[in-house]
Amino acid sequence: MTQHATGSVEAPQATVGLMRGLSGKLLLLTVVSVMLAEVLIFVPSVANMRVRWLQDRLNTAAAAGVVVDGLENVELPRPLQDETLMATDTKAIAIRRKNESRLIAAVDMPPEVDAQYDLTDVMPLEAIGDAFHTLISGGDEIIRVYAPLGESDAIIELVMSDRNLHKAMLVYARNVFFLSIGLSLFTATLIFVAINRIMITPIRRMTASMQAFSADPSDPARVLTPSPGQDELSLAGQHLAAMQQQLQKTLKSQKNLADLGLAVSKINHDMRNILSSAQLISDRLSDVDDPVVKRFAPTLLRTIDRAVGYTTEVLSYGRTTEQEPHRRFLALRPLVVDVAEILSIDSASGIDFRNHVPEDLQVDADSEQLFRVVHNICRNAVQALLNDADSGRARIVTVSAVRTGSVVCITVDDTGPGMPQKARENLFSAFRGSARSGGTGLGLVIARELVLAHGGTISLVDKPSPGTLFQIELPDRAVPLDVFRSRRRH
Ligand SMILES: Nc1ncnc2c1ncn2[C@@H]1O[C@H](COP(=O)(O)OP(=O)(O)OP(=O)(O)O)[C@@H](O)[C@H]1O
Ligand SMILES: [Mg+2]
Repeated sequence: MTQHATGSVEAPQATVGLMRGLSGKLLLLTVVSVMLAEVLIFVPSVANMRVRWLQDRLNTAAAAGVVVDGLENVELPRPLQDETLMATDTKAIAIRRKNESRLIAAVDMPPEVDAQYDLTDVMPLEAIGDAFHTLISGGDEIIRVYAPLGESDAIIELVMSDRNLHKAMLVYARNVFFLSIGLSLFTATLIFVAINRIMITPIRRMTASMQAFSADPSDPARVLTPSPGQDELSLAGQHLAAMQQQLQKTLKSQKNLADLGLAVSKINHDMRNILSSAQLISDRLSDVDDPVVKRFAPTLLRTIDRAVGYTTEVLSYGRTTEQEPHRRFLALRPLVVDVAEILSIDSASGIDFRNHVPEDLQVDADSEQLFRVVHNICRNAVQALLNDADSGRARIVTVSAVRTGSVVCITVDDTGPGMPQKARENLFSAFRGSARSGGTGLGLVIARELVLAHGGTISLVDKPSPGTLFQIELPDRAVPLDVFRSRRRH
């Protein structure tokens, strides 16, 4: 009987929390990646912003400087100087030429300069380094900044505090930070929605289908309807649906077999009752004096006994596998005689049944099971010969056996038409091997199962002459060393 796995296997949970689920992880990953990208963008942009800020100051100062510079040898009055310095947020403004330097405006006591920056051609890495310096340790430094004055060869030079620059950079950094957060949340939401639609929803659908299917695998409505796309998830869905369909087919055929087993058991049950009645009646045959009855009665009784035995066995075990063989050493020849008798080969059929098994050959087997093996194979041979009426060949079934060491090799050879192709292709497969009308295709399967239970082999052997040759090899049971020794002692 097939059993569904739902009862014993603990099913994984159907849904997962947002943060433990794929979508939550993707959301987090996107936020982190966008933030990282923003940092990478922030570093050069803050350096750029600083250079631009300084350049603006230089330009403003240059505008004032150029005017004053035009007035030859005139020093700006103090209040005007202070105003210019305030407007440009500087401590001193000077214009330098090749051989002279002119101070345009300066505070009374120009402070000492902590660092100086040339804005002529600022290299990116240098700009980044300076920006970080200002951001981290700036704010209280006095800096000197200079750059060419327009297209001329003069240079404008400022001395100033970096406090306002530092402040402006902090504001810029804060703005970029908030912008990054906003941007990353926005991007992450977009990606989240897209991935949810493209991936998570189909995956959830597949998981739900698997759960529904495992709850009742026989229901065709629970097979996943896959989406027709060509992407990996659609392909996975299509494979899953194909697998579910295949599984359903297998389940169905197994259920058919189980139903068949049940039906056979029921028939078997009633047949045993009928046979038991027949057994009772035929017991009385032994009292009849008729010589013909006297001759056939023992065989008939034995046959019915066997039939009752089989049916009871099937009923008591209620399973398809055979009972363990109860092995003992037995003479094979009488067993073959019994088989010949039960096959009731009459002289009218023209079949010559030859028992070539040596008198003294002993085989280590379960007598009932070996009987069934030989019977099935010999019955097939006899049926093949009977169906091959017009061939004109002599109709002979020969059973031989030889012992080699601890293995007995039994052969059943007939002069019939040989195995049909269909039977050859499905040799030993249940219900499929029969190529004979009225045959069930179980005989050889049963024979094989019983031989295998004895640790032996059964095979169809090719032979040059027409007909069929089956060979059975049965090894004796292995004798443990201590049993062997104790046997020798007694
Ligand atoms: N000696 C033989 N000669 C020719 N064909 C054979 C021989 N033995 C078996 N076959 C073929 O092999 C097929 C399978 O045999 P098997 O005994 O498994 O089933 P069956 O005889 O059809 O049915 P049943 O279950 O009643 O025995 C037979 O139908 C027959 O066609
Ligand atoms: Mg058969």
